[in-house]
Amino acid sequence: MDRISLQLYDLTNETDASEIEAILKEYYPNSPWPVTKEKIKKGGVVYYRAYYQGEQIGITGYAQKTPTLAETVKTTIFNPFRGRRLGGLLSQAIEDECKSLGIKKVMSTVYYFNHQMVKIKLKQGYTIEGYHPDHEAPGFHEYSLGKVL
Ligand SMILES: CC(C)(COP(=O)(O)OP(=O)(O)OC[C@H]1O[C@@H](n2cnc3c(N)ncnc32)[C@H](O)[C@@H]1OP(=O)(O)O)[C@@H](O)C(=O)NCCC(=O)NCCS
Repeated sequence: MDRISLQLYDLTNETDASEIEAILKEYYPNSPWPVTKEKIKKGGVVYYRAYYQGEQIGITGYAQKTPTLAETVKTTIFNPFRGRRLGGLLSQAIEDECKSLGIKKVMSTVYYFNHQMVKIKLKQGYTIEGYHPDHEAPGFHEYSLGKVL
């Protein structure tokens, strides 16, 4: 099977920051804390375009928490490409990227209703390290899933 390749967004570039903002708006419409272009440009999260067989099929990213811990975020497959197990490949791609940067542990927080992503992470050897009721906001319960690399 072909691999997913990641290409860094340039957060100093207005067009790139606007593109991320638009994608997050479209795919996380109910977020209690929407990510704005200003926040994206401030940094803190490193974002990538994800390509599969020459097409951009989604985005992903990570936030470095400590010198050895990274939280992977916004692993997203665009609608036309869903249901082809690309979500698992993309989760693996951002984990591999973190590992190549010297990260020793990856984690992510996932809404309790996001069974697809929970399944993907569990299949990839993550364990549920926490359940956080009313975490991001009231009603937004989340699991945290982690994996030592
Ligand atoms: C989560 C997401 C990345 C999954 O991408 P995808 O490529 O469409 O994933 P798939 O359809 O192949 O499903 C992944 C797994 O979930 C399973 N699945 C599908 N629907 C499911 C459901 N309702 N309940 C449980 N498992 C389900 C699939 O069978 C598959 O498992 P398998 O490989 O063992 O068969 C995609 O839906 C997405 O981008 N969602 C919006 C953004 C998001 O929520 N990102 C995660 C942030 S933490």
